[in-house]
Amino acid sequence: MQEIIEKIENAKNLDEIEKIRVELFGKKGVITAGFARLKDIPNEEKKAFAENLNIQRDTFNARILEKKEILEKEFIKSKMKSDGVDITLFNEPLSSGAIHPVMATMDKIIEYFVAQNFSVETGPLIEDDFHNFEALNLPKYHPARDMQDTFYLKDFRLLRTHTSPVQVRTMLKEKPPIRMIAPGSVFRRDLDLTHTPMFHQVEGLVVEDESKVSFANLKYILEDFLRYMFGDVKVRFRPSFFPFTEPSTEVDISCIFCGGKGCRVCKQTGWLEVLGSGVVDPNVFKAVGYKNVSGYAFGLGVERFAMLLHQIPDLRSLFEGDIRLLEQFK
Ligand code: PHE
Repeated sequence: MQEIIEKIENAKNLDEIEKIRVELFGKKGVITAGFARLKDIPNEEKKAFAENLNIQRDTFNARILEKKEILEKEFIKSKMKSDGVDITLFNEPLSSGAIHPVMATMDKIIEYFVAQNFSVETGPLIEDDFHNFEALNLPKYHPARDMQDTFYLKDFRLLRTHTSPVQVRTMLKEKPPIRMIAPGSVFRRDLDLTHTPMFHQVEGLVVEDESKVSFANLKYILEDFLRYMFGDVKVRFRPSFFPFTEPSTEVDISCIFCGGKGCRVCKQTGWLEVLGSGVVDPNVFKAVGYKNVSGYAFGLGVERFAMLLHQIPDLRSLFEGDIRLLEQFK
């Protein structure tokens, strides 16, 4: 009996203790066998034999349970040590990402127009001559093409120089009325403080039955939009030229830095140019086969808006991926 107790005491792990338990109490176990033999024991010895067997059974059982509990605790302890996560490991909070200021500005612009029932349209970045120029009233060899410094591909396709081709694609795909914006990236061969070869525009187009929309609708919505973006500013429509609109206007807001008094940012003029717009030229409607309609269109540079909203002096810094710049926009 002492021998078995020692064996239990010396068990090193749960497997060993289980083995001992089976040796004693399993189907072929010593104690099990003892009870099986009971019926063959002569009557006068039976009582003592059974008593002894009961004591052995209870003792071993108790010792096994005791030892098992100890080994289980040890097992859990060592498992925690090897598998456990050290929750004290990071004592500095992990920094989380943020939306890029250009995308955040774009989202804000899109939100306004979606709330005004504009649909959001997209088009390919690689365009052809027809959609980027020709259908927009810039026939081949038209001098106005010089306004756009274009990246051409070998096969004369090109990287779109503005989002206006999405106007053309949407009109070819759908019937009037149309009320759409087209946000997306555009490309021009240009690089300085205020230009990068890739930048973003949001285009807008509204087409209705003839004489249903006019310059007045354009003026109203752009004024409302610019106050939503920049707060309480004055808005000025300045005559300009785009081949695809007639009349065309460039739109200025009173300088948000000096309030219109004149400063370095507005070059002492008191005004900041923020977008181009106009009444859709009849030649554009002709190119897409629209008849008896009227419409207006506008286009804006998202980076320009972001620069003004966040007072970013160098446009190029937005695309350098410098975490120190981006961290300021969390
Ligand atoms: N596509 C013009 C540009 O890139 C902007 C514009 C769009 C002007 C629509 C008028 C109407 O400069």
